[in-house]
Amino acid sequence: MKPVILDVDTGIDDALAIAYALNSPEIKIIGLTTCFGNGPVEYTTRNTLVVLEQLGKSVPVYSGADKPLSRPPKKFPTHVHGEDGLGNRVEKPPVREAESEGAVDYIINQVKQRPHEITIIAVGPLTNLALAVQKEPEIVSLVKEVVIMGGAVFVGGNTTPYSEANIFADPHAAECVFSSGLPVTIVGLDVTMKTLLPNAILADWRAAGREVSDFFADITSFYIQAYETFHPGIGGCALHDPLAVGVVIDPSFVKKETWNVKVVLEGEEMGRTVALSEGEQKIQICTQVEADRFLNHFLDRLF
Ligand code: RIB
Ligand code: CA
Repeated sequence: MKPVILDVDTGIDDALAIAYALNSPEIKIIGLTTCFGNGPVEYTTRNTLVVLEQLGKSVPVYSGADKPLSRPPKKFPTHVHGEDGLGNRVEKPPVREAESEGAVDYIINQVKQRPHEITIIAVGPLTNLALAVQKEPEIVSLVKEVVIMGGAVFVGGNTTPYSEANIFADPHAAECVFSSGLPVTIVGLDVTMKTLLPNAILADWRAAGREVSDFFADITSFYIQAYETFHPGIGGCALHDPLAVGVVIDPSFVKKETWNVKVVLEGEEMGRTVALSEGEQKIQICTQVEADRFLNHFLDRLF
């Protein structure tokens, strides 16, 4: 069982990733760290606690970065994740609160206490991880693996024609992480846009007649409606964050290539992830996915 820190900006696909991870025995989520991204960090932290409450789980949550390292903060994607970041489905505050330790110190302390054991799955902006590396560079050699949902290497972006949302939200943090020497695997739009959750599944979730499956059907319905506005007829939504979790559970879901990856830090192409064949850092890029096998695994595990 792999010990995992899951770094999130809970939003709707983050919520699906949390449920998938917590219902998969191959990994143990020892803590969740939160970041701005799909909303302010106050919202993404609250949303993470709400999702855990729905799932009946009490994994500790550590609040993190509230803004990018240096770029001006971008507008929150309320059109995709709702004003509250969770499909406008947050009806009351969670009972639990986040831990007093901050996300960055939690990451550093856990990695130093458990050298070469911890896998970090980051499915939001990479600000927390970048801050941890800047504060304690020695963790680079102590982290077992980093798997991120982010980037669009050989395909177009989803926030600009060039850039994927998590990287665009904090390109300097991504550049810091990719150039740090951390063992990074990129699960980008190259593969996540092939892993679509069909709209018809929601009826199955509702037929289960359970509060938790109704909750996930409601938030996912909001997400699918957003997808239909910019991908008319798509009939579903991309399982971006769940696929990053899936790659840690079963790496055979994807094929990877090794490249040096740089991030464009300014101008029209800011946030673009560029694959270079020369250079020291070697990043694993997921280029192919067994989408049907992954989707079936995800659905089998979710509730
Ligand atoms: O581009 C998709 C990514 O941006 C996902 O992680 C989604 O939750 C948003 O954070
Ligand atoms: Ca996310």
